[in-house]
Amino acid sequence: MLKIGLIGFGFMGRMHFDNYVRLMEEGADIKLVAVCDMQIEQLKHAKTGGNIATGSEFYDLTPYRLYDDIENMLSSEELDVVDLTLPTDLHAELACGLLERGCHVLCEKPMARSAEQGRRMAETAARTGKTLMIGQCLRFWPAYEYLKACVEDGRYGAVTAGYFFRGSDAPQGWFLNGERSGGCMLDMHVHDTDIVHWLFGKPERVSSIARNVIPGSAYDAVSTNYHYPDGKVLNAQADWTLQGDAGFSMTFRVNFERATLLFANGELNVHPAGEPGFTADLSPDMGYYREIKYFLNAVAGGTPVSVCSPESAAGTLEIIEAEIRSADQGGIPVAIP
Ligand SMILES: NC(=O)c1ccc[n+]([C@@H]2O[C@H](COP(=O)([O-])OP(=O)(O)OC[C@H]3O[C@@H](n4cnc5c(N)ncnc54)[C@H](O)[C@@H]3O)[C@@H](O)[C@H]2O)c1
Repeated sequence: MLKIGLIGFGFMGRMHFDNYVRLMEEGADIKLVAVCDMQIEQLKHAKTGGNIATGSEFYDLTPYRLYDDIENMLSSEELDVVDLTLPTDLHAELACGLLERGCHVLCEKPMARSAEQGRRMAETAARTGKTLMIGQCLRFWPAYEYLKACVEDGRYGAVTAGYFFRGSDAPQGWFLNGERSGGCMLDMHVHDTDIVHWLFGKPERVSSIARNVIPGSAYDAVSTNYHYPDGKVLNAQADWTLQGDAGFSMTFRVNFERATLLFANGELNVHPAGEPGFTADLSPDMGYYREIKYFLNAVAGGTPVSVCSPESAAGTLEIIEAEIRSADQGGIPVAIP
């Protein structure tokens, strides 16, 4: 039985909480025992907001021990697994400390504020022998898993071009402090950069144009071209300043030699050359559920988190940092280390 502590009960904390409850109801050999948030008293009966609806608006947390102080929770509980759903600038130091204390750690994306911090987290996991996984949830999202399978097994030939997009209306609070969140480029665009990295490996160079829209924030809108030796035309864009009721959106269009895949509004349509198109038959489960289940199975079985290794997540941060250097210089191509 894995005893789990959840730190952070904001939007993503609740998303993870819902999935632990579901997994416990399904009979997984786990027990969520403690929840910590500096605002736990206010949050436990409050509504939350976010890009994707969580299961509930109000929560009954009486079955769990509640803490408003991280150290207090860690010194009071014997936890096998700690799940971090905290603002990004808090990830690195806390994750390393937890690994050193002997806990397995699931940490929300982006892994950390810098690639250097990310590499330190990966090194700490390797040295302590504890499992660290970053919640790069798209690697577990059924439509993106389907795309990955098409790239890997070559059923439609090679990829010739692709476009990825994520957008939402402006976030609030700490997200608008670039020092804490890294802005839209690190916080939101990291999802698609990570998918490009996961699908095709590191590009040779990136060129990015980005701009500030919200006063005092970091980059709020970005467009990046990823340069690969085979010349595939790949672009990813993110914009967290969508207006009106445009809402949250994640889409892709990937063109293969013998098919086009189009993902929008939660539906993946496959258009093979010379054949009628079809809608892919995908699991209705969200990536969050699949990601948490995969992580817990890896911890229980002592197997590596090869779908999303910490080294690979740190590599994604190296690409993001190159994108920021490119954007800072007006879009010149920047080599990936
Ligand atoms: N995977 C995804 O799709 C996805 C979506 C949204 C956010 N995220 C990531 O999840 C992380 C959290 O984002 P969020 O949207 O849940 O933010 P949030 O602001 O909704 O929640 C963060 C919570 O952490 C708590 N907190 C802050 N400092 C604390 C401390 N020192 N001790 C205890 N509690 C503390 C806050 O009170 C808050 O409730 C970020 O890294 C974000 O980038 C991932």
